[in-house]
Amino acid sequence: MAKPIVDAEYLKEIEKARRDLRALISSKNCAPIMLRLAWHDAGTYDAKTKTGGPNGSIRNEEEYSHGANNGLKIALDFCEAVKSKHPKITYADLYQLAGYVAVEVTGGPSIDFVPGRKDSKVSPKEGRLPDAKQGVPHLKEVFYRMGLSNRDIVALSGGHTLGRAHPERSGFDGPWTKEPLKFDNSYFVELLNDESEGLLKLPTDKALLDDSEFRRYVELYAKDEEAFFKDYATSHKKLSELGFTPT
Ligand code: HEM
Repeated sequence: MAKPIVDAEYLKEIEKARRDLRALISSKNCAPIMLRLAWHDAGTYDAKTKTGGPNGSIRNEEEYSHGANNGLKIALDFCEAVKSKHPKITYADLYQLAGYVAVEVTGGPSIDFVPGRKDSKVSPKEGRLPDAKQGVPHLKEVFYRMGLSNRDIVALSGGHTLGRAHPERSGFDGPWTKEPLKFDNSYFVELLNDESEGLLKLPTDKALLDDSEFRRYVELYAKDEEAFFKDYATSHKKLSELGFTPT
């Protein structure tokens, strides 16, 4: 039988890497791009063919060169510094751990990390990640393909509480909230606010208001941060474990 990835020594390395990631993310203020990296590695999952997903394949040039991944080489290089100190840890685990730490150090919920993801060298074809210029049917198609639900779509979109768009990366510009390094429910508050001047709303963000199933979660999360944190933690854990069965 193949040796499992995770043993006591591996768990120790995970804890050391977690500390290194905390320090790195605080000193570089790079929580947003680390979260985006974790999401883009995981978000290629296809539940039918069980391909893509959080398997580290975004480190392949073929995949990080996809248009949707513009700018993520920066985050890959930050992670490489941690990987070289803790070579036992798979890239797949490292990227997802970085996503958890990014949420936690910016004030979001703590998520229980289960290690053991395997690395893959096989990258999916371009086009599995959502296109920000589209609407409700596209969002549903992409997230249902991963095996995720309407509630997951809205909760995970709250990841835009962190960071900003960069014209040279996506063609969009600006942050979604007034404090883009703070993980809170302000993404939903601003989404419902027609006068949130200077803040970004992508077509896919606005789509969350167009569908009644989506909208009821937007309204809930805007008024109840605890409900948002609870659902976000559940959905983020699901996203980070797509296609992964801990052994
Ligand atoms: C940034 C699209 C979902 C986390 C961005 C950007 C776009 C985008 C266009 C700007 C990239 C740039 O110019 O730097 C979308 C679309 C989604 C989606 C269409 C579909 C729902 C998510 C999810 C998460 C997430 C599920 C995490 C849970 C982020 C973060 C940034 C970002 C943290 C900021 C990155 C930075 O500041 O460098 N997203 N996204 N996004 N996205 Fe999303």
